[in-house]
Amino acid sequence: MSQQSGIGHDQWKSRFGFMLAAMGSAVGLGNIWRFSYVAGESGGATFLLIYLAFVLLIGIPLLLTEFSIGKAGKMDAVGSFKKLAPNTKWHLTGIMGVIGGILILSFYSVVSGWSLFYLYQYITGSFWTEPDGGFGAAFDAWITNPIAPLFWQALFLIVTIVIVRRGIGAGIEKANNVLMPALALLMIFMAGYGLTLDGASEGLAFLFSPDWSKFGDPNVYLMALGQAFFSLSIGICGMLTYSSYLKDKDKLPAATVGVGLLDTLFAVIAGIMVFTAVFSFGVEPQSGPPLVFIILPSIFESMPAGGVIGIIFFVLLTMAALSSALSLLELPVAYIHRTLGFTRKAATVIAGSIIFVLGIAASLGFGIWSHIQVNGNNILDIMDNITANVILPLGGLLMAIFVGWYLTREKAVQFSEIETPILQVIWLAIIRFIAPIVLLIIMITSLLGM
Ligand code: PHE
Repeated sequence: MSQQSGIGHDQWKSRFGFMLAAMGSAVGLGNIWRFSYVAGESGGATFLLIYLAFVLLIGIPLLLTEFSIGKAGKMDAVGSFKKLAPNTKWHLTGIMGVIGGILILSFYSVVSGWSLFYLYQYITGSFWTEPDGGFGAAFDAWITNPIAPLFWQALFLIVTIVIVRRGIGAGIEKANNVLMPALALLMIFMAGYGLTLDGASEGLAFLFSPDWSKFGDPNVYLMALGQAFFSLSIGICGMLTYSSYLKDKDKLPAATVGVGLLDTLFAVIAGIMVFTAVFSFGVEPQSGPPLVFIILPSIFESMPAGGVIGIIFFVLLTMAALSSALSLLELPVAYIHRTLGFTRKAATVIAGSIIFVLGIAASLGFGIWSHIQVNGNNILDIMDNITANVILPLGGLLMAIFVGWYLTREKAVQFSEIETPILQVIWLAIIRFIAPIVLLIIMITSLLGM
């Protein structure tokens, strides 16, 4: 098969479609499920401030860097690097990205499967009243079951596969055109509802008034950095793959800022939604990954019309997860399709199956494989930590060095499509110096376990 096949003829129908898809990739479980539990564990407002600083200072400029490589390379994660830097090892960045994408979707589909199951429980009314033993026990019974979660995980992956198989314009773009506007409406409704609860002010204080003593804790910086990368979908070439389907005339900078700000806005709205509810019902914000699955249902149960709110919330969570899963699957699919000579449809099924099998391990890590642990982290936590805190920042670092130092200054600026000279200088300073230094310091400190 020729090097060019697969990419080039499939394109976004419009720039707006690309923006919605990129926003769909960014806004996901990361904004609601992951953001809430990481912020809850890492001190709320302190974490939020550092996270916001990372998004603005490093995240958005690196998102533009990643988009530039894809748009200029016009190929999948690996092919784009090979085209821009022939006969070098830079394409290994793309390989790491493909592996990272497979790993993330493996555990992501497990949590998405939980969300789909919860949605089903709300639609059938089973979770409208507290199950025997409470929502905590119900959640435990559910995730320790070796079979049932796998069924919902598979169902979620099948929906993802069906959409990605249809390609960019007819599959991914079309789905996001429906998912994203619906998601925005549901989210605003839920946050507005959260603000009307008694005790909302305590939740707002947790999220917006920082505890200055926590700024000395290096772990908060690592968590905030990992969350910024995870939430913006940067560092594993998923965004690179999406931008490779852009038409030449569709420019990058405005789209980048739009995606970055909207993703952040969604995280803050989700934070308001979750923490106002958490505080008005007096539960601990440090409950970890199950936060959204145990605490929110208990809260919904004691609200008027809580069952309906539960349906709305889990529709929202599942849709957000789906729009991100599309980009996570497209990343290996584009690569497998080009290099291994499979049709796009076959490549989608192959990648989806590998992901399902790996995901089984993440799912069983809550039950029969729960003895497999590293520092108290189960398989899903390990996959999550390795990808968010190591692979994504490392990928981001490599892409910054690639565009900032390997490419000539003229090429870098040309690919970025930034037109204002002062912004060109600022962006270059960030990707050449600021981002690499900050990333290195945080990664080294965390490696040394300081
Ligand atoms: N950004 C997505 C989320 O917040 C997750 C994701 C990470 C998607 C990396 C693609 C690539 O849920």
